[in-house]
Amino acid sequence: MNDVSRPNVTVIDHPLIQHKLTIMRNKETSIAGFRRLLREIAHLMCYEVTRDLELEMIPIETPMALMDSPAIKGKKLVFASILRAGNGLLDGMLDLVPAARVAHIGLYRDHETLEPVEYYFKAPADLANRLIIVVDPMLATGNSATAAIEKLKERGANDIRFLCLLAAPEGIKNFTESQPDVPIFTAAIDSHLNEKGYIIPGLGDAGDRMYGTK
Ligand code: URA
Repeated sequence: MNDVSRPNVTVIDHPLIQHKLTIMRNKETSIAGFRRLLREIAHLMCYEVTRDLELEMIPIETPMALMDSPAIKGKKLVFASILRAGNGLLDGMLDLVPAARVAHIGLYRDHETLEPVEYYFKAPADLANRLIIVVDPMLATGNSATAAIEKLKERGANDIRFLCLLAAPEGIKNFTESQPDVPIFTAAIDSHLNEKGYIIPGLGDAGDRMYGTK
């Protein structure tokens, strides 16, 4: 679903995603449940974010006959995970596209300034020829997503999509202003950010809820 006021944002409002997201938001949901649901939602979102990949016909032989059958054409995929919560989405994406290359971008938010601090970056070499799908469950201030994408662009990336679970209006605005060429896919747009940069109502700290670190 696209909103005319946010043409670069697609809200994937499939009932299964919305139902699973509601369970994830619930503070009573266990760590194991949270992780499993994130992976399941990643399957469903991966399906949407790759919906327009180009196909080509390739010749194959079934047990019965020769035929031309569709296969994904052209650019190879890279999934770029913003550590550490991005890995929860990454796992589900890799279930569906096991041959994708993977980039890891280590960023943490300075709790005072809310600015991203990079501590790790490892990506495939030839980013210019690939479709890059950057994954991070939470688009909050947009600062980490922007920093990750700028780094990928410095390394030649020019065809990028951003996939998250929840987005704040402030983050969408900030991100869209600095990365107008990068479409955003999200399962929901929440109300606002609080003074600590958390999404309200949100689901809390995605990394902590995935890994039980709080
Ligand atoms: N990161 C999170 O994990 N949760 C938020 O609400 C905002 C950023």
